[in-house]
Amino acid sequence: MRVLVVGGGGREHALCWAMAASPLVDTLLCAPGNAGIGDVARCVDVQADDVDGLVRLARDEAIDLVVVGPEVPLVLGLVDRLEAIGVKAFGPSAAAARLEGSKAFAKAFCIRHAIPTAAYRSFGRDEAEAARAYVRGHALPLVVKADGLAAGKGVTIAATHAEAIDALDAAFSGAFGEAGSEVVVEAFMEGEEASLFALSDGANVLELGTAQDHKRAFDGDRGPNTGGMGAYSPAVIMTPGLIERAMAEIVRPTITGMAAEGSPFRGILYVGLMVTRDGPKLVEFNVRFGDPECQVILPRLMTDLGQLLQGAADGMLGHMNVRWHDRHALSVVLAARGYPGSYVRGEPIAGIGAAAADDDVLVFHAGTALDAQGRTVSAGGRVLNVTATGTDLRSARDRAYAAVARIDWPGGFCRRDIGWRALPDAR
Ligand code: GLY
Repeated sequence: MRVLVVGGGGREHALCWAMAASPLVDTLLCAPGNAGIGDVARCVDVQADDVDGLVRLARDEAIDLVVVGPEVPLVLGLVDRLEAIGVKAFGPSAAAARLEGSKAFAKAFCIRHAIPTAAYRSFGRDEAEAARAYVRGHALPLVVKADGLAAGKGVTIAATHAEAIDALDAAFSGAFGEAGSEVVVEAFMEGEEASLFALSDGANVLELGTAQDHKRAFDGDRGPNTGGMGAYSPAVIMTPGLIERAMAEIVRPTITGMAAEGSPFRGILYVGLMVTRDGPKLVEFNVRFGDPECQVILPRLMTDLGQLLQGAADGMLGHMNVRWHDRHALSVVLAARGYPGSYVRGEPIAGIGAAAADDDVLVFHAGTALDAQGRTVSAGGRVLNVTATGTDLRSARDRAYAAVARIDWPGGFCRRDIGWRALPDAR
């Protein structure tokens, strides 16, 4: 099978690593890829949001299966465009991707299908005064979310009414472009966050593991929100009972609900959960693998990823199951100093080979390039994902940080407390 993976981050490096190992895959391309992905796939310089370019590439390269990593091309309708020219794709249609692309759609969907989530109201830009009045009368803290994709920046947990009104005004005045033309205001849920992944072919659904992300930039969950500074899997808080409850109350109703509404969901459903005193509740849907959560799920996966993704694209998941290595995985993100604000690119990074010399360590590249001398240099905010597995989480963590210590990049930083919820002494 000729496979094209779309994207160029750590998630896509992990996807390419797993697809390269599949006996079903004989040719692997990645667009645009990065320096590390170049070791396992042929990278093609087409950006992940260039839908026309990706459709042309898939056609010209006679691709059998396109695997879409990030959310933007899914929301832009890449899968619909590929299917229209007869190219099979793994990922939801634009209509199904609204679960992530519009928070107002997702919340209304939850109400229609009795999926547990926080109470909310949504407001358009022309209802700004009503939104402010609603916020002023709302209990604190409360959550203000831009409706559309805002690269992880559109959510404010407001401790005061003034903060919430500032967040409303920012969204309505264009801080997130069109993504902020509608906002969702919702009640704050108390509890611990965890992520649950599921794979669906539109009708059948398989659980695909749990993870916990670390969204803040600095140790102790301080500093600005990022795309994620590290993750581990499985998420210790997600007991088998809680996973089954989340599957029964959130995941399966979502898959049957989307099918019933005429937008069957094929792809990865990433369910952001709050584990509350009353059980798991939905924080948000995403319609793709998490990044860096993918980097800790795939090293634990024993079943061939190629078979699973092809099965999902072909509607064959009813005949399949998922098997796991009895391992824990933990990934530490090395980011460029300054991230998620401004940072420099082009700094040489040494020691990646030494870090990956341990059989239980994988270094996924998230934002790297090769310079004119063939050296690996930083080329993004999140740059490397140093991932290790172990028979328990502690050994995975110790291995990951030992590998981090072998990387020589003075311009980088990482959190030192990844995994602290499950290993409190990590703080
Ligand atoms: N790590 C969070 C996300 O992928 O959305």
